[in-house]
Amino acid sequence: MKIHIGSDHAGVELKELIKKHFDGKFEFEDEGTFTTESVDYPDFAHAVAQKVLEDGGSLGILICGTGNGMAITANKHAGIRAALCWAPEIAALAKQHNNANIIVLPARFIPSDVAIATLTAFFEAEFEGGRHQRRIDKINI
Ligand code: RB5
Repeated sequence: MKIHIGSDHAGVELKELIKKHFDGKFEFEDEGTFTTESVDYPDFAHAVAQKVLEDGGSLGILICGTGNGMAITANKHAGIRAALCWAPEIAALAKQHNNANIIVLPARFIPSDVAIATLTAFFEAEFEGGRHQRRIDKINI
């Protein structure tokens, strides 16, 4: 599976750890940032959101300090459902009920082992469809 991944400076360390942990399991396309030099999170949220929309069947991971800047920005793109997740149960539900196509992690508020478990739960979960699809169909304005 193709994963488009991006972070700001607050998330770059976790981004690298994630790529290393899931190496061989997923094909990562890294939209940056690549250093801890201060950058603006919307630049990376827009890049990942556009790639996920263009690249059918792919998913995205976005990481910033709180996750909020990335989620707020990515969700401006019609068709993107970016879910801020900090626990495996929330991540599984984000896929099962919301069919999230981008998972957002709060690097400054989640231990790395919990971040990995949260991503694992997200990628293992499946969208349940049915009433959840009806609700998703009502999201876009
Ligand atoms: C950067 O300091 C911080 O504002 C950013 O990572 C994120 O938390 C924004 O939502």
